[in-house]
Amino acid sequence: MKVSIIGASGKLGQYMVQHALDRGYEVVGVCRKKSVKKLDRFEGRITVVPGATNDPEVIQGAVAGCDAVLVVLVPWGVHQYASGTAQAVLDYAEPGARLVFSCGWHITRDGKDQYSRKFLWEVKAFGWLAKLLRAADLDDQVEACRRVFASDTRWTAVRGSDLEEGESQGLPVWSRHVGDPILQSNRTRRVDFALFMVEALQNDELIHEAPAIVGCQTPSALAHAAGD
Ligand SMILES: NC(=O)c1ccc[n+]([C@@H]2O[C@H](COP(=O)([O-])OP(=O)(O)OC[C@H]3O[C@@H](n4cnc5c(N)ncnc54)[C@H](OP(=O)(O)O)[C@@H]3O)[C@@H](O)[C@H]2O)c1
Repeated sequence: MKVSIIGASGKLGQYMVQHALDRGYEVVGVCRKKSVKKLDRFEGRITVVPGATNDPEVIQGAVAGCDAVLVVLVPWGVHQYASGTAQAVLDYAEPGARLVFSCGWHITRDGKDQYSRKFLWEVKAFGWLAKLLRAADLDDQVEACRRVFASDTRWTAVRGSDLEEGESQGLPVWSRHVGDPILQSNRTRRVDFALFMVEALQNDELIHEAPAIVGCQTPSALAHAAGD
């Protein structure tokens, strides 16, 4: 299996590279030129393509011949970085390639997610401040996911809860809608978010799903497992 990882140098990206290598996959990683150094520890084991992830030419080269593409969708900047990245992958991935995108719980596919007031307030405040400072554009990440949901590719959009560092606890559990009791703990280890993304490549049941994930050892996941 040959896998392209778009946004390989970030925290999530590096964990995905490691999980992919652990499975014996051939890995092509795309990251900004200034971040190539962050991938030094994988030298000789992966191919690195330096460049902006929303540059169609960069993406076209990086996904050529790949069976799967893992994409870190981030809303940074105010120049359509997320939607440009998603569009380039949708346009240039090999026909039939498995595509797995990352985003947060704030993305909703069918509008049936039930968010707490605190969550909505935080998203609104972050979105407003980030836009004011021209640091990020949450609306563009929403647009990126809208394009993914509308595409006829073999996509999955993995929606991460609040994240934390730490040793792996195992494959996160998921549900279709934020607000479902199993997700209540709103906490996932970043290494396990990456694990879910990489495992999704082999799980066709996740095609055309937008799973919202939570750590499998969190209180809400354990309560669900116990039939609470
Ligand atoms: N952080 C959270 O709590 C959280 C919660 C839920 C979901 N998520 C989702 O998880 C994924 C990754 O989140 P993360 O927190 O783990 O971050 P991360 O892995 O550190 O990823 C950040 C990515 O953004 C890139 N980046 C940073 N600044 C940039 C800029 N100004 N312009 C363009 N690219 C830039 C980084 O590339 P460089 O290496 O080149 O800097 C890296 O690829 C995203 O899809 C996010 O929506 C995060």
